[in-house]
Amino acid sequence: MTNKKVYIETYGCQMNVADSEVVASVLKDSGYQHTDKIDEAGLILINTCSIRENAEQRIWRRLRSLNYLKKKNRNLIIGLIGCMAERLKEQIIEKEKLVDMVIGPDAYRQIANFIKEAEEGHKTVNILLSHEETYADISPVRLTPAGVSAFVSIMRGCNNMCAYCVVPYVRGAERSRDPGSIGGEVRDLIGKGYREVTLIGQNVNSYNHSVYGKEIRFPDLLRMVAMIDPRLRVRFSTSHPKDLSDELLYTMAEHENICRHIHLPAQSGSNRILQLMNRDYTREWYMERIKSVRKILPDCALSTDMIAGFCTETEEDHQDSLSLMEWACFDFAYMFRYSERPGTKAAGKYPDNVPEDIKSRRLDEIIALQNRLSAISKQNDIGKLFEVLVEGFSKRSADFLSGRTSQNKVVVFPGEDRKKADYVQVKIERCTSATLIGKII
Ligand code: SAH
Ligand code: SF4
Ligand code: F3S
Repeated sequence: MTNKKVYIETYGCQMNVADSEVVASVLKDSGYQHTDKIDEAGLILINTCSIRENAEQRIWRRLRSLNYLKKKNRNLIIGLIGCMAERLKEQIIEKEKLVDMVIGPDAYRQIANFIKEAEEGHKTVNILLSHEETYADISPVRLTPAGVSAFVSIMRGCNNMCAYCVVPYVRGAERSRDPGSIGGEVRDLIGKGYREVTLIGQNVNSYNHSVYGKEIRFPDLLRMVAMIDPRLRVRFSTSHPKDLSDELLYTMAEHENICRHIHLPAQSGSNRILQLMNRDYTREWYMERIKSVRKILPDCALSTDMIAGFCTETEEDHQDSLSLMEWACFDFAYMFRYSERPGTKAAGKYPDNVPEDIKSRRLDEIIALQNRLSAISKQNDIGKLFEVLVEGFSKRSADFLSGRTSQNKVVVFPGEDRKKADYVQVKIERCTSATLIGKII
């Protein structure tokens, strides 16, 4: 019998952060208590990510490094959960012998049974994906100390089949969570002192749930959440450019508490590459969407994801990515080197033929450009006044507080007796490469 303390380590995206909270909740109902101390845990769960090869490599290294704990405590159970489960199945248990159970993202309700089996010496693998599971009725146990901001999962899976991406295979088909349970979770968070929620899904713009024959789409859901409490900030991520509608932008414009930030991954600026990627939009469509954002929401920040060196990418395609970034003047970006994922359309159909050194050089150019654009974005804020939601003390000094603007930029300022979860008006005086610095007005 293992002791009933569980330590959960989460890799990957916001979806995994939210899922770890669902797992903690399911386990709590079976008498497990969450701990931050890995050494005292009887159960260790590693919530994994498969998005790029280096994400998986890092997790393998971590699993190997946990072997010492298994030697110290023969009753310790180590479980691998999340997105690597589907990809690796028996391999992890049989070949690597590093874990006692492998549980995919749609099988968390039964986790207590799998633990029991593992305790009895039977290694379990459950990677069945579901068309319905949204964990709608489960109230997540928040694993970060009582916070200001929380993720609320509104949908699972993805139907988009971008050629490079493993998500549809490891997370299954798209399904939207029922809006009543989303509203319930948000109200509960407000009651616990939270002041910001981020509605998350792989493509929130395709949210669609029928209630008594009436379709609730993403703008309807967003409006519903925004109207729960004007003191609550509402964010959302990720928006797929092909589905970003003017209706959504107008909904944002109507509600001041819907934050002025859209994460709109472009991936590439070349039409040829976008088509190979199966992204379903063109460079021109993407630019037209940004023009619409600028018109309807003039103070809205925009961020993106970019992939360098996708299959067959030429120097000209790469230049198209740089010019799109420069044109859009993104406030922020996540940037990646293309990593071939087994089982995806790109892996089967296109050669991963951009040499690693060229991928790296192109990625470096993309990063250097974005650093310049991010600096411009912050310098443009100097002298302006922003409402900031205080998240806590700044990392450097307890005399300073830290929070974010509606545009999702981090601001640091002298505290003046304000505290976590307060809204303050801050005038920006200067900036560093990562942060705006100002004072309360
Ligand atoms: N659903 C979101 C993003 C999901 S994954 C969307 O469609 O925008 C987050 C980011 O990882 C992607 O936007 C993409 O830029 C990157 N990514 C996904 N697969 C990748 C791969 N095989 N190699 C490199 N980057 C990848
Ligand atoms: Fe992957 Fe594309 Fe789905 Fe995003 S939209 S998760 S990139 S398949
Ligand atoms: Fe990774 Fe799974 Fe998210 S593959 S990026 S944790 S959906």
